[in-house]
Amino acid sequence: MSVQLSELAPVAKPLLVCSHITTGYGRATILRDVSLHVAPGETIGLLGRNGMGKTTLLRTIMGLLPPGPQGCILFGDHDITGDRTASIARAGIALVPEGRGLFPNLGVEESLTLGARADSKGRNLWPLERIYDVFPRLAERRKHWCNQLSGGEQQMMAIGRALMTNPRLLMLDEATEGLAPKMRDEIWSILRRVAQAHIATMIVDKNLRDLFDLADRHVILAKGEIVFEGSTDKLRSDDTLIHRWLGV
Ligand SMILES: Nc1ncnc2c1ncn2[C@@H]1O[C@H](COP(=O)(O)OP(=O)(O)O)[C@@H](O)[C@H]1O
Ligand SMILES: [Mg+2]
Repeated sequence: MSVQLSELAPVAKPLLVCSHITTGYGRATILRDVSLHVAPGETIGLLGRNGMGKTTLLRTIMGLLPPGPQGCILFGDHDITGDRTASIARAGIALVPEGRGLFPNLGVEESLTLGARADSKGRNLWPLERIYDVFPRLAERRKHWCNQLSGGEQQMMAIGRALMTNPRLLMLDEATEGLAPKMRDEIWSILRRVAQAHIATMIVDKNLRDLFDLADRHVILAKGEIVFEGSTDKLRSDDTLIHRWLGV
């Protein structure tokens, strides 16, 4: 019997490990015993129909919901279980929430730089010049107010602002929702550059084809439980699975 090289190669230490997360809102349990991991630099598609718990999972990782009595979240060398959102952000996790959460009464440049900080090693890999290089549209709009931006430009702002915190894990909820096709393409090409920069991402998006082009691996949630975890090739080739859990 031959042994595959991949079986012998040392497995990289995961960047994020979530174990046994059970949480919800008030008495309603939404996530049930969710466990997953993300490797450094890995791009993960987080999939599932509406209301299945994707946003709840991202918010739990960000410390906006408790992970439950058995829940444990490790990030890099830190146990971040139960930590406050600000400290989780400092550890290197950034969330671009659905709806973007911009401050309309701030200028573009001010809004980009407001939360900027070096990474945990004191490096600033995403200075303003690099953001403007990746987002030329934002460079053109630098003197504008955030509320003068189009939906796509606002999403670029939200991603740019998240990058300026120098995250090791960037999570995007409904990354291209409500955007015009051209803007969607721009967001996907930006996310490709983020992946090339070896930043791990967890992306929620309804556009399977674009997500398949970018992501290494996918996790599908149904009614708050993980029902599939596997490579893009495995999911892409399984129409039954896609139909059953994603209804497309
Ligand atoms: N703030 C909230 N209070 C009570 N229930 C909520 C709240 N947010 C979401 N839910 C419920 O939690 C479930 C999962 O929602 P969500 O995580 O937003 O799903 P998804 O992002 O996959 O569409 C849904 O049934 C939704 O109605
Ligand atoms: Mg959602």
